[in-house]
Amino acid sequence: MLNDIQEVLYDAEQIQAKVREMGEKLSQDFEGRDPLVICILKGAIIFMSDLIKEMTIPLEIDFMAVSSYGQSTKSSGVVKIIKDLDVSVEGRDVLIVEDIIDSGLTLSYLIDVLERRNSKSVTVATLFDKPARRTVDLEADYTGFTLPDEFVVGYGLDFAERYRNLPFIGVLKPEVYEK
Ligand code: XMP
Ligand code: MG
Repeated sequence: MLNDIQEVLYDAEQIQAKVREMGEKLSQDFEGRDPLVICILKGAIIFMSDLIKEMTIPLEIDFMAVSSYGQSTKSSGVVKIIKDLDVSVEGRDVLIVEDIIDSGLTLSYLIDVLERRNSKSVTVATLFDKPARRTVDLEADYTGFTLPDEFVVGYGLDFAERYRNLPFIGVLKPEVYEK
């Protein structure tokens, strides 16, 4: 598995420091608001579980799964809800936790859905951002690291459902996905 990595962009320690900083900021900004923190499956699970441990305020968590990529490394542009929330967002301050924003299609669709369900507010926290590939006008409210336009894996991010368990974020060797 480690042999497939071309370059480590941020190691476990750097990610941990960033997640702590984001958690502290979010705790201040969401104080007294009892946010509903929504993890976008599957990529955001590791970020979400680390992030909420750094948050020192009452909050509720829920999960949503959407499809946009399949087994490929490029967005199909088609977003579909595979698993919906268990709880209502009506009147809630919603915090969407994403692993990475690429084209922005997934997130702009989700924000729209959650706003139409009469949430009180929708805020986005993403650990990684690839602004070079944006096709819709969208910026996260909280961003951990800005990445170059390369396909990355680790810390929740996959290629063909593998590599999510790597504790760092790295670039996959092209020969791995060009096979
Ligand atoms: P969009 O294009 O809708 O895509 O912003 C967001 C989703 O695409 C996945 N994604 C990646 N997954 N390495 C991955 O493992 C990447 O470099 C990458 N870029 C985008 C991711 O699931 C995200 O939720
Ligand atoms: Mg994926």
